Amino acid sequence: MPLSIALVRAFHFASGMLLLAVAAAPWLLAAAPVRGMARLMRWALAVHVLSGAAWGWLAFSEMAGVSPWAVDGGGLAMGWVGTSFGRLSLLRAGMAAVLALVLWCERKRRFPPPGWTVPCAAALLGSLAWAGHAAAGGSGFFAVADGFHLLAAGIWPGGLVPLALFLVSAPDAEAVRAVRRFSAVSLVTVALLAATGAINAWHLVGGWSALGTTGYGRLLLVKVALFAVMVGIGARNLLALKPRLPEPAARGWLQGNVGAELVLGMGVVGVVALLGMLPPPG
Ligand code: HEM
Repeated sequence: MPLSIALVRAFHFASGMLLLAVAAAPWLLAAAPVRGMARLMRWALAVHVLSGAAWGWLAFSEMAGVSPWAVDGGGLAMGWVGTSFGRLSLLRAGMAAVLALVLWCERKRRFPPPGWTVPCAAALLGSLAWAGHAAAGGSGFFAVADGFHLLAAGIWPGGLVPLALFLVSAPDAEAVRAVRRFSAVSLVTVALLAATGAINAWHLVGGWSALGTTGYGRLLLVKVALFAVMVGIGARNLLALKPRLPEPAARGWLQGNVGAELVLGMGVVGVVALLGMLPPPG
């Protein structure tokens, strides 16, 4: 499978996670989102739709055994209508259209109401589980577990983006309140992410030895290692830095750590983009 598919998958997962995180920002930060967040949501939706269309185009030309530049309308139509991935993508395009309509209707507001945008963004992100390995076996339980895995990934590490943007200019009192709210939400989300990730791994790896002896297993180990480092940094934020806020040095360190977690989080999304293209040993 060409690496170009991995690249568009990475953009698709990252933009889907960012869309949910920004939509839920008022709840995640217990504060009004900073200027520009509504525009960030529109950009995330645009990248999500374009990367989704590119993913389909590349996958269907791959299925047709021709280069993407040589695939014809018939081949694409066959892909969109004739495959479960294609039909899911059309359904998700409908969800994206609903969210775009909501954003357009609410364009005069400083920030679109989460009560409308969060369910749309959650449906868009969670429904991706049915395009992945977890649903491939036809088991609803593993697909639903993977759906929660995706939603959790949207809240953490996805939510680190609105937190980082908020901490740039927030007054001390609001910054302390936002960090308190976000770290409480992150504790539950990280636990959910680890639990649903373990379910995914148990279902798809099929045994401890396969972790070390297969390409899929080794890549998953890289992902879990990145996750462990992120959790370590998060624990330092929670236990050592949060109690010292709003002390400027603690705030500076915390903002730096949030940046480091975000970079590692992008690494995880990159690994996920590749992981979904390798045959799971289980
Ligand atoms: C920062 C933490 C994490 C993030 C952002 C994350 C994100 C994701 C995403 C976006 C997917 C794609 C879902 C799909 O294609 O259906 C995924 C799949 C998966 N995740 Fe995670 N995850 C994280 C942590 C973990 C952990 C800790 C584990 C294991 C204990 C794990 C195990 C898996 C497995 C096995 C899959 C299925 C991959 C496939 O074959 O498609 N994840 N993860």
